Amino acid sequence: MAKKIAFTNQKGGVGKTTAVHGLAAGLKIKGQRVLVVDLDAQGNASAVAGLIIENDRKTVKELLVDGGHAEDFIVHTDLVDIIPSNNSLKDIEAAMIEGKRFDALRKSLRSLKDSYDYILLDCPPSINVFTKNALMAADEVIIPVDMGFFSILGLKQLLEEIKRSRKELNRSLILRGVLICKFDRRTALSDQIFGILRESFPDKLFKTLIRINIDLVKAQIAQKSIFDYNPRSNGAEDFMSLTEEIIHG
Ligand SMILES: Nc1ncnc2c1ncn2[C@@H]1O[C@H](COP(=O)(O)OP(=O)(O)O)[C@@H](O)[C@H]1O
Ligand SMILES: [Mg+2]
Repeated sequence: MAKKIAFTNQKGGVGKTTAVHGLAAGLKIKGQRVLVVDLDAQGNASAVAGLIIENDRKTVKELLVDGGHAEDFIVHTDLVDIIPSNNSLKDIEAAMIEGKRFDALRKSLRSLKDSYDYILLDCPPSINVFTKNALMAADEVIIPVDMGFFSILGLKQLLEEIKRSRKELNRSLILRGVLICKFDRRTALSDQIFGILRESFPDKLFKTLIRINIDLVKAQIAQKSIFDYNPRSNGAEDFMSLTEEIIHG
């Protein structure tokens, strides 16, 4: 049965999308069937997979609005299977809030439970209706954080939102862990932020640290997985380590 993992932090640029693709590629190497769902109107996860979606293509927006078979919305790319997104996702935000449609994604993904081992949900940089849909649909949530102060400032609010999702509909939602991304041991700030996180989440910090690695950026530009782009990079090493942590607990 597919394990659904939401990647969320309302701060942009912390490494959510990079983590989704890095983990997706690692899991694929380990023989797992992986689907990525892009829930960000910026469509970054889709772009990394080579998909700049014009309006004539089915995206997650149409899936959430019209329902139907989720299978029909999956694009199979060289990199990954993905339900893509684009800017049009914004058009349905108000109606989704008004209709209190926080369970739409969960219902849509039900039919895929036997088709994939992992479904990774790439959330937008805000706690909006799509993030709430992800938290309702997910079995687990991973919070990527970078080494900036602002990335941990919003954590309290995010943890409250996770608690609310648990109370309202998704009682079994688990905080799988906080994932430190863009780690750079050379900056003093990294040590300080690392210390704060270790104190705040003593048993919820992933052992794996995703270090700053320019190959991760270059791989995205080349629309390749980090493992194909440079298997000997720190990025490849870190994402394989994360993959092992995810698979083996
Ligand atoms: N470990 C890393 N090392 C270097 N650059 C990174 C790393 N992780 C992410 N980036 C870059 O930082 C930017 C923001 O990352 P992204 O994954 O898009 O964050 P988010 O999805 O949280 O907005 C992107 O340009 C990405 O290529
Ligand atoms: Mg992103």
